[in-house]
Amino acid sequence: AKPVIVTLDGPAGVGKTTLAQRVAKELGIAYLDTGAMFRTTALELGHDADKLPEGEMSERLNTLHFSLSQEEGESVLRVNKRRIGNEIRTEEVGMMASRVAVLPTVRTFLRRSQQRLGSEVSLLAEGRDMGTTVFPEATCKIFLDASAEVRAKRRFLQLQEMGHDANLKKLAQQIRERDELDRNRKVAPLRPAKDAVVVDSSEMGIDEVFQAILAAVHAAV
Ligand code: C5P
Repeated sequence: AKPVIVTLDGPAGVGKTTLAQRVAKELGIAYLDTGAMFRTTALELGHDADKLPEGEMSERLNTLHFSLSQEEGESVLRVNKRRIGNEIRTEEVGMMASRVAVLPTVRTFLRRSQQRLGSEVSLLAEGRDMGTTVFPEATCKIFLDASAEVRAKRRFLQLQEMGHDANLKKLAQQIRERDELDRNRKVAPLRPAKDAVVVDSSEMGIDEVFQAILAAVHAAV
């Protein structure tokens, strides 16, 4: 049978990753964190990524092979067999990711990698352009939103939990900057697909959002 694809898109800090993991587990499908792919790629290309000549950029991108496997009921994303860990989860790396995410060569390369992974197994794909660009034929599309203030606070708590240093004011600023970049880029900007279910979670608790997403999936499948 054709793999089932559920897409979950939305801005930075909205809680997509936590929810995506939970929903994927509940549905018994794999979870694909495409933000992690952009973050890893950004780290691999380094700070001057936007100054790399096109040819060298492609060459370096082509050395990156992403794979997704199920290990003890968990989806594990690897780049060149190395497990991607929490080192990519800082707001600084998020910003680096946002900067390389405007580059068409990077987007094309990652879109192809994502589509390859999505052709192999049923999955929940989380990102910015899953419903609009990467999986336009997805079974169910969800767009999760929340106000910038709420998102900064959520990200703050999450970083603290991971033991990272966090400053709420600075985070709010970084999230706004990243929103700007993600919403206004020319290629695959952040926006809900026409056929997406939009969930504004500003005033919702995590369990409520979880149920809303599950309801949308069950209505579509
Ligand atoms: O979701 P996360 O915060 O990990 O994503 C990091 C950055 O990667 C985003 O701000 C965005 O610029 C980029 N991204 C993207 N398209 C995706 C996933 C992430 O452009 N599908």
